[in-house]
Amino acid sequence: MRTRLKTALLALLLAGTCAAHAGDDALYRALGDQAGVASLMTDFVTRLKRDTRTENFFRQTRVDGLAEALTDQVCVLAGGPCKYEGATMAKAHADLAIGRADFNALVEVLQDTMDERGIPFATQNRLLALLAPMHRDIVTR
Ligand code: HEM
Repeated sequence: MRTRLKTALLALLLAGTCAAHAGDDALYRALGDQAGVASLMTDFVTRLKRDTRTENFFRQTRVDGLAEALTDQVCVLAGGPCKYEGATMAKAHADLAIGRADFNALVEVLQDTMDERGIPFATQNRLLALLAPMHRDIVTR
């Protein structure tokens, strides 16, 4: 009986946690909602085009187009009220021969961008933690 009670309590606790997460837009709000995310992503893509480690990948890229796709994607990930309608990460990066060092360089550029904008460390880490697992679909060599 005790074990069953504990199991039931645990189930309730987990259900509560999930429910809280389902509508959790704390990260989205911490990033400054739509305007904050959009301006962060424009800044980020502009830097990716300039950084010597990433510029070759983004030579043909239009800042507005990629920033818009990233804004939708980050908004969704951060719990915001958006829809991402771009390609899957595997498809978007399939032909780019991206290595682990390229992935790390992009993450560093994002960190620098967030640092310069004064985004708190905890907020930065929450976003990076959501992006990090994507390396499985993006790094192909
Ligand atoms: C977590 C990491 C990353 C995320 C979230 C991400 C996200 C995206 C998104 C949303 C798109 C647009 C897809 C579409 O338009 O349908 C895209 C395109 C692209 N990504 Fe990534 N990406 C990541 C890592 C990288 C890395 C490491 C590189 C190379 C160093 C890279 C290079 C590119 C390029 C060249 C494009 C095409 C841009 C264009 O349209 O000109 N990405 N990425």
